[in-house]
Amino acid sequence: MKIITTIKELQSELAIQKKSGKTVGFVPTMGYLHEGHLTLIKHARHENDLVVLSIFVNPIQFGPKEDLSTYPRDFERDRALAECENVDYLFYPSVEEMYPNKITVQAAVQQRTDVLCGKSRPGHFDGVATVITKLFNIVMPTKAYFGKKDAQQVAVIDGVIADFNFPIELVAVDTVRESDGLAKSSRNVNLQPEERKQAPVLFKSLKAAKAAINQGERNPDNIVSAIKEMISKESNGYIDYVEIYSYPELQPVERISGRVIIALAVKFTKVRLIDNLVINLD
Ligand code: PAJ
Repeated sequence: MKIITTIKELQSELAIQKKSGKTVGFVPTMGYLHEGHLTLIKHARHENDLVVLSIFVNPIQFGPKEDLSTYPRDFERDRALAECENVDYLFYPSVEEMYPNKITVQAAVQQRTDVLCGKSRPGHFDGVATVITKLFNIVMPTKAYFGKKDAQQVAVIDGVIADFNFPIELVAVDTVRESDGLAKSSRNVNLQPEERKQAPVLFKSLKAAKAAINQGERNPDNIVSAIKEMISKESNGYIDYVEIYSYPELQPVERISGRVIIALAVKFTKVRLIDNLVINLD
């Protein structure tokens, strides 16, 4: 595995490799790797000749009051894990390398951001779309891998690829969970011990919602209320949102039908967790 910190070096390495017709799978991350990230890498390894993993905590996708300074980092551990997964290139640029000057042009996401995390994290998806556009231009992969845990992010990147005409296939990978159901996340280490015990209620409430739908419940308001009640009862977390939309359009629904996403975000003392379930009634 080669560790590369400059854009120029990565581009010239990949140019040589691509000349011989090699396909490139790309997994963008912010590091502090866990089983979710490693699953994306495994998919990329399986489906491509070369695998590029990027680790870059992108400052422009964090709001002023968000957790940029406490976002967990451990490069040595990440490097060892990436090596175990047979990553070919680990791209680890500095903030100065990625943003050497004041930004002159930034992506502004126009659709699918007035709801869910887009609403509670203004500017977040513009920051994600900007860094992903830069990373796509740097790596120009054959396929790029993203997790369904961040379902709205997948929808936004789908738009980046379509609207900016990137010849890249987006592969969305299922959410990887702890044995108690909590979605794996780099941020889970910032939960306090008591909060860690409570956090599985997020997925538990989503599963209960799915069971209610399977039993015939079609009213989204009833489902949202039941989820909120369960989370309030079984945790000290502050509910940021619990919402149901059509998927992937992210339009409000009056009745549950077709494909819908039930998504939620809950704030604990130092960390805000998200989770979702896509339900297909077709
Ligand atoms: P990060 O949170 O590090 O996640 C990197 C990728 O791993 C994302 O595609 C995310 O959806 C996926 N992922 C995280 N937890 C997962 C889980 N439990 N199961 C499956 N996949 C999971 O998302 C970002 O970084 C950034 O916004 C980024 C796309 C890198 C842009 O800066």
